Order: sequence, then structure tokens, then C-alpha cells
Amino acid sequence: MQTTADRMTHLAPHFFASLSARIRSLQAAGRDIIRLDEGAPDLPPAPHIIEALVHSARQPNTHSYQPHIGPDALRRAWADYYIREYGVELDPNTEIVPLLGSKEGIFHLSQAYVNPGDIVLVPDPGYITYTRGALFAGGEVYSMPLRRENGYLPDLRAIPMEVLRRARLMWLNYPNNPTAATASREFFAQAVALALEHGFLLCHDAAYMQVAFDGERPPSLLETPGAKGVAVEFNTLSKSHNMAGWRSGALLGNAQVTRALFTLKTNADSGHFLPIWEASIAALTGDQTWLKARNEVYRQRRDRVIEGLRASDFIVETPRASLYVWAALPENWSSMDFAAALLENTGVSVTPGTVFGRGGEGYVRISLTAPLERVDEAMRRIHGWMMGKDKE
Ligand SMILES: Cc1ncc(COP(=O)(O)O)c(C=O)c1O
Repeated sequence: MQTTADRMTHLAPHFFASLSARIRSLQAAGRDIIRLDEGAPDLPPAPHIIEALVHSARQPNTHSYQPHIGPDALRRAWADYYIREYGVELDPNTEIVPLLGSKEGIFHLSQAYVNPGDIVLVPDPGYITYTRGALFAGGEVYSMPLRRENGYLPDLRAIPMEVLRRARLMWLNYPNNPTAATASREFFAQAVALALEHGFLLCHDAAYMQVAFDGERPPSLLETPGAKGVAVEFNTLSKSHNMAGWRSGALLGNAQVTRALFTLKTNADSGHFLPIWEASIAALTGDQTWLKARNEVYRQRRDRVIEGLRASDFIVETPRASLYVWAALPENWSSMDFAAALLENTGVSVTPGTVFGRGGEGYVRISLTAPLERVDEAMRRIHGWMMGKDKE
């Protein structure tokens, strides 16, 4: 039997694989499970996007390999979108590379930039691919705690000088998964200044930028003056346009970095299915007003979750963006034990905070990706269980 390469030790199976197996066995035993764990949009994209896919797939000449760099019209569509939405100018020929969803780009960027022993600055709690990509490349992860009292922003001044000197990449992600926090332009300006001072690459993961409520307009990091000198932004249609399964995103910003990732990708994948790229163009250039109605659906669910959790003694803030509610546990539970007990006792599945790092201990993440009546039912079950326990 061959053993795997040493670097494979950094790739434990993802938590959701074991959770899904447990849920399947509960369902097989007849249990009704409400999944508020994963962050996958449950609603479809707008009809004009699906039409563009179908129309393109019907053509006889859209089925072959495509150039890695994608159609010119796709990169122009991303550039126009950034001008329209954020006032950011990008050169479609040098500053934009299409991705097969942002996850592969996030993972691959570390392979392109991190040497063994380099430090990668990663938010804790945070999206686990920043850490996994860094470790797989042989890098060392330095966790930047995201604390409630600091608005779930990393304290940039608390990073030791020694660490900054060896830092190769810093990851930021706002609106944030899992805490649902947003960042201000001032914070982004501080991060850009730090990257300029210490010469590390600043990577902003903007997966949730278009999911916002109550008039919130989360900024792009690339709006920051000077950002393109030291930074890139990952964007994706997964959450913004309900297209998670379509795998369509982009890396935007610094031309050297987009070039390096492009070179890596020409060796690792073979472009995308043209109809998906053409539908992505339709998503970026077409009517965007449907997103407002979609966000209103999430807002209603958010309000019910907040109301339900507070009635059950959770401490929660009302998020102004993202697909999540980040809830502090009311008792002295560990996150893993709480999520497991909740699933077994109520059939409601939430994500333990520690899936996102040690900094997530004492929290669970609740996704707003189930219909309102299921959200209400979940809140009823949680309330019944929590209040019943009090009486035990
Ligand atoms: C913070 C964050 N970044 C990136 C992704 C990856 O999204 P995709 O690969 O679908 O573009 C996710 C998915 O859940 C996420 O939560």
C-alpha cells in the first residue's frame, strides 16, 4: 500500500462530510432534519441567467475546451460590474482571471505564493480554506483572533513585528463568514497600509459582498487608494447570484498576482464550460434588481432567527450582511457538543463555531438558507428543547 505525501496530513476531511453522513442516518431512521448548517443558497438564480445557459448549451460549438482566460466579454463584464457597483477600475486584460468558483483560487493562491516557513495571517474564526491552502504549501499559519469586542475585525496592531516581517499573505473576509461582521473603508485602508509597509500580499475574500440588508453596502477592498499595488480580491457568483453549483468566480486586482494564479491554473485545470461563462456574463451585466428582493427574503429569515434565538437565551447581534447569524451559546457548552446535542434532540442542524478555528469556541453558526416556515419550525424546536432543559 502506498502512503500519501506528507502534505496530505494537512487535509483532514471537511466537517460537513461527517455531518452529512450523520444526517443521512437520522433521516433513514425517519427523523425530519432542518439543515441550517451549510451556507449554500436555497433559491435559484434569476430566469435570464438560466436562459443564457440553456441558449448557449444548445449551440453546437460551445462544448469544447475553452481558453483558461475565458471570453473577453466575461472579463469585461466583471470590469463593468466593479465600475458600476464599487467605482473600481480594472483592466480586463491584466487584472482579472476567471475562477472555477473562488474556493479553488483561494487554495491555489497559497500554492503560488507561499514558500515553506512563510507566515500566512489567517482570521480565527475563518473560512478553513485559507488555513488548509497555507499548510498544504508548507506555510505557517498565524491566527488573527476575531473578537466580538473588536467588531470581529482582527487587531492589526496586535500582530508582532517579527510575524509581520515573515508574513507572505494576509487573508481578510468581509462580510465575514462565520461572524457576519462587516468592515469599514477605514479598516481596509489600515490593512492596505500595513501590507505596503511590510510587503505582504493582502487577499480579500468578498464572497458575501452582495448579500446585505437594512441599506448596508459592503465596500470592495479594491476601493482603497493604493490597494491594487498590494492586494487582490476574490469574488464569486455563488452567493451573490445564487449560483453556488455553477462554480463561477474571479480574482481581481494586482496584475502580477492575477498573472501568477493564471499560470498555475493553466497547469491545474482546463477552463470552464462556455455556457456557464456566458450565463455568468448574463448575471453580471443583466438586471440586478432581483437581488434586492432576494436579500429581502434573507432579511425576513434573519429577523425570525434573531427573534427565536433571543427568546431561547442566546446572545446574538443582528447581522447587516452575509448568510449567517453567529450566536454565542447561552450556557457553558462546547460548540461541538451543543451542535451534536441539538441535532440529536431536535433535528435542527447548525454549524459548531470551532469548525472555523479555535476562536469559534462558544458559538454556533446558523445559516439563513432554509424557507421561512422551516426557520420558524427550527426556532420552535430550539426553544422547546432549551426551555425544557432548564426545567430538568
Ligand atoms: C468565506 C467564503 N469564501 C469563499 C467561499 C467559496 O465559495 P465558492 O467556491 O462557491 O465561490 C465560501 C463558501 O462557502 C465562503 O464562505
